[in-house]
Amino acid sequence: MAQIKTVGVLGAGLMGHGIAQVSADAGFEVVLREVDEEHLTKGLGRIEKQLSRAVEKGRIEQSGADALRGRIAGTTQYGELADCDLVIEAITENLPLKLEMWREVDEIVKPDALFATNTSSLPVINQAAVTNRAERFFGLHFFNPAQVMKLVEVVKCVTTSDEALAAGVAFAKQLGKLTVQTKDKAGFIVNRLLVPYMLDAIRAYEEGVGSIEEIDAAMKAGAAHPMGPLTLADFVGLDTLGSICDVMFDEFRERRFAQPPTLRKLLAAGWYGKKSGKGFYEYRGEEPVANPGI
Ligand code: 3HC
Repeated sequence: MAQIKTVGVLGAGLMGHGIAQVSADAGFEVVLREVDEEHLTKGLGRIEKQLSRAVEKGRIEQSGADALRGRIAGTTQYGELADCDLVIEAITENLPLKLEMWREVDEIVKPDALFATNTSSLPVINQAAVTNRAERFFGLHFFNPAQVMKLVEVVKCVTTSDEALAAGVAFAKQLGKLTVQTKDKAGFIVNRLLVPYMLDAIRAYEEGVGSIEEIDAAMKAGAAHPMGPLTLADFVGLDTLGSICDVMFDEFRERRFAQPPTLRKLLAAGWYGKKSGKGFYEYRGEEPVANPGI
């Protein structure tokens, strides 16, 4: 299998910008593609902000940060991905959109390149099957923030060759990540366990077991979690959480994966969590405060 030198990342959102940054940090050349200049500038801006923070904290020299940034080329054109050795998609959790995107990218990127999806829950095979390289297609599931979280789930779907899977594992290890291989089942390992936990926290809130702050404080102090479950839901993005629920509910038909009414209401209001400034909390001042509208 050809050596990976250039990595294409589709989507510069919450996950895509982080995946691009860690790939460039590991020495890969990166082509980061977004739908338009506005989204691209926002994604690149996030990377630049992280790099400035890292320089301020003395974790990286300015010259190192400049070199890292220099390895990331932003684009709005699929054509720029043609010579990539590995393309990772991190676009929105919407299967029809992903399929449309892969059909187009598959025609452009060199035939021996590897394709990977960072999907949080959608079965990998559905995406692999619309390309002409289903044996070189696998899942690489990163965790938010990708710059910090150690894990990458590497997902083998029924068509993935052993050789391609090994290349995926080796790539994630080159990023300094711990890899765990999982089967191609909705939610893989982490979201299979984490999503029902966040949904149960929402249900506990609905049942009046505790307030938003109490539920979060309890899990932080009582179970040593870095964030409480409702803060985590806002952090992951309520739209993403909602999409994952729908996929998992559709797959398993179990109540524990169903969207609780409060989540539906927040989504209907356009409150997607931290990224939109409001979710279970409001993010206006120094510290988040529980959303009084819920
Ligand atoms: N990007 C890059 N670096 C970041 C960052 C970001 N968005 N956020 C924090 N960091 C870095 C900081 O720079 C800091 O680095 P330093 O110690 O070298 O200075 C370090 O992480 C710790 O950050 P802070 O001191 O600001 O804050 P915390 O100690 O509270 O840590 C956190 C922040 C790492 C986000 C921590 O709260 C945490 O681990 N939360 C849980 C995150 C989690 O569970 N993620 C998985 C979500 S599920 C998922 O992603 C799957 C998907 O499919 C839905």
